[in-house]
Amino acid sequence: MGATDRDILAYLGYPEATLLGAGGEACVYALDDARVVRILRAGAVVAAAEQRASLMAEIKTGARHLTFQVPSVDRVETLNGRVFSIEPRLFGQPVSQLLGSVSGTERTKLLNDYLDTAGQIKTISVDRPGYGPLLGGQGLHTTDWTGFLRVRLERSLACCPADLRPAVAAMRHLELPEPFRPALVHMDYFPANVLAHGSTVSAVLDFGASTIKGDSRMEAWSAVAYLDREISPEVTDTDRALAMGWLAEHNLTAHYPNARRWLAAYWSFATDDLALMAWCRRILDSR
Ligand SMILES: Nc1ncnc2c1ncn2[C@@H]1O[C@H](COP(=O)(O)OP(=O)(O)O)[C@@H](O)[C@H]1O
Ligand SMILES: [Mg+2]
Repeated sequence: MGATDRDILAYLGYPEATLLGAGGEACVYALDDARVVRILRAGAVVAAAEQRASLMAEIKTGARHLTFQVPSVDRVETLNGRVFSIEPRLFGQPVSQLLGSVSGTERTKLLNDYLDTAGQIKTISVDRPGYGPLLGGQGLHTTDWTGFLRVRLERSLACCPADLRPAVAAMRHLELPEPFRPALVHMDYFPANVLAHGSTVSAVLDFGASTIKGDSRMEAWSAVAYLDREISPEVTDTDRALAMGWLAEHNLTAHYPNARRWLAAYWSFATDDLALMAWCRRILDSR
C-alpha cells in the first residue's frame, strides 16, 4: 500500500492543506502562501518527475525576460513509493475562475492579456533541434512541422475511441503551412492553466506533457480554440468573437479551422476527459 495524499501532507506538516487542482497526472495542494506540493498519481516514477523538473528549469531560464511567472521545482521526493514535488506557489487566480466573475472592460482586458500572453510563449528559448515533444515522445521528433503533425496524429489514432477513428484518420490529409523555424508551443494553454491578478496574466502553468517545439501559430490557434464552450464553459459568445477578432488582427484567421481540426484529432487520445472528448467529437464531426 503506497502513501495517500493525506499521508504525504501530514508528513510535510500540512495535514489540512487545501487542494488547488486535480488533473490527470497530479493533485496540487497549497502548503502556504509560498509553496505548493504536486503529488503525482500512484504509479508515477521519480525519473519522470525529475525530467519534468529539469524541463521547468530550462523554461524558467528561457522565460527570464517575460513579465509572467512559470513553474519551477524546488525538490522531488518520495514517501512509500508515492512521488511528489515541492514547488513555488505562483501568484494569481485561474483565468477560468476569473471569467466566471469579471465583466465589462476588465473582462475585455483579461481576454486580451490571455491572448497576448499566448503570443509571447514563442519567445521562450529552449535549445532543441527540429520539431517534437520536450518530454519523452520517442519517435515523434522530426525535421519538419508537417512531419510532426503526421506522426503525432498516428499516435492519437492508435488510442482514440473507435467511433472517432475515421474522422481522426481523415486529418492525415489536412494541410497546414510550414513555419520558418520551430518555437516553444505549450499546447495546453487554456484558461485553467493561466493565472491572473485583476486583468493581468501573472503565471502560465502546466508546461510539460503537451509542450513541443512546433509552429508558434499553433499556440495562438489553440489558445482561441480552447475557449470553445465544452472546454471553457465560463467563456461567452462575445468573448469568442473578441478572440476571433484577435486572430484576424494577427493575420491568423485563414488556417484556424484546419488547426482546430488537427487539435481535435490530437486530443482524441484523452478519453478520460469527458468535456475535451465532447469538444473533439463536435469539431471532428463538423465539416
Ligand atoms: N505552482 C502553483 N502555484 C499556484 N497554483 C498552482 C500551482 N501549480 C498548480 N496550481 C493550481 O493547481 C491546478 C492544477 O495544476 P496544473 O499545473 O495545471 O496541473 P494539472 O492540470 O496537470 O493537474 C492549477 O489550475 C492551479 O490552480
Ligand atoms: Mg492544468
